[in-house]
Amino acid sequence: MRTVNVALAERGYAIHIGRGVLSAPDLLAPYLTHQSVAVVTNETVAPLYLHTLRANLAELGVQPLEIVLPDGEQYKNWQTLNQIFDALLAHHCERNSTLIALGGGVIGDMGGFAAACFQRGIAFIQIPTTLLAQVDSSVGGKTAINHPLGKNMIGAFHQPRLALADISTLATLPDRELSAGLAEVIKYGLIRDADFLSWLEANMTGLMARDEALLEEAVFRSCQHKAEVVAADERETGERALLNLGHTFGHAIETGLGYGVWLHGEAVAAGTVMAARLSALLGYLTEADVRRVEAVLQAAGLPVRGARLAKANGARYLELMRHDKKVQDGRLRLVVLEAIGRAAVSDRVADTELLAAIDATCD
Ligand SMILES: NC(=O)c1ccc[n+]([C@@H]2O[C@H](COP(=O)([O-])OP(=O)(O)OC[C@H]3O[C@@H](n4cnc5c(N)ncnc54)[C@H](O)[C@@H]3O)[C@@H](O)[C@H]2O)c1
Ligand SMILES: [Zn+2]
Repeated sequence: MRTVNVALAERGYAIHIGRGVLSAPDLLAPYLTHQSVAVVTNETVAPLYLHTLRANLAELGVQPLEIVLPDGEQYKNWQTLNQIFDALLAHHCERNSTLIALGGGVIGDMGGFAAACFQRGIAFIQIPTTLLAQVDSSVGGKTAINHPLGKNMIGAFHQPRLALADISTLATLPDRELSAGLAEVIKYGLIRDADFLSWLEANMTGLMARDEALLEEAVFRSCQHKAEVVAADERETGERALLNLGHTFGHAIETGLGYGVWLHGEAVAAGTVMAARLSALLGYLTEADVRRVEAVLQAAGLPVRGARLAKANGARYLELMRHDKKVQDGRLRLVVLEAIGRAAVSDRVADTELLAAIDATCD
């Protein structure tokens, strides 16, 4: 087992990464000082891993309230969130209750938001079971639900007390979901660690074959990156924005097609190609760099062409992108790559350049 510490003073916490950390009650014990525990999970993850967590909690003398939600990005909404509150209230949960999210990023984001709001904030533990959630969404305290007009528009910052990333849970992950997680792993290489990108290129076959030692290394290094960024800029006033590489384009795809049609990681992959293309148009990346970005994403089983969203495709992208949170004073703030391994935010990209990058990436 390896541990990454998210250094946020009194909100700091540990991420334990390894095979079997879900089956180790002693990792949870220090955080469950009160008996009242609610586990939020979904219909897919519950039959796979809830019994293990339940057995651990039983060893600690805890009988949790189990809240099993429907599965899917399309349920990451107000109605489903309210089901959590209904259950917490019906079962008399209170200020000192702990909420554990067991599942992917949808469960982590929604469970975390419920924990942030319930009684103005209760203790929260993340047990991410997808690669994407282990390397990204469970780290850094962003929680949210979607609104029909935009992804993750309603949310809060609420740091967990602990995160347990059990690599063994990745064995049951569908191939598409594994690839989606790799999109975020590749992102860390592209924005801040060219060596890591080379390591990923060299080991992609093994990662795709789910070699557990390689997956553990990838999760560990990704969590280190995210933890560093979050510790430097918890509230995204600076460096944290670089983690949005490809996301403004990608969110346009997710919102434009309807949530759940493309996976988040898939949309981010196509969006990353658009961002790389834009970076080339702005004179930062070479054509060979753009091809390298495409190649590594493709090797991870990810799409490198964007979805067509409308007849006037570019205009629709721009319209959706302007709804994204990354707009400040009416200006789009886009992450561009200055080189492979180095990113920056620009709010000076002209629409013509944006349209050219989108056009070049959509069929
Ligand atoms: N908070 C953040 O900082 C942050 C960062 C990135 C993404 N996100 C959010 O995360 C969400 C995407 O997360 P995701 O990719 O984990 O999707 P997800 O939560 O929908 O999980 C993907 C699918 O895998 C299933 N699943 C989960 N664990 C499994 C396992 N071990 N075996 C088999 N199936 C399993 C899920 O039930 C689901 O069907 C998006 O809503 C995105 O906005 C948040
Ligand atoms: Zn993402």
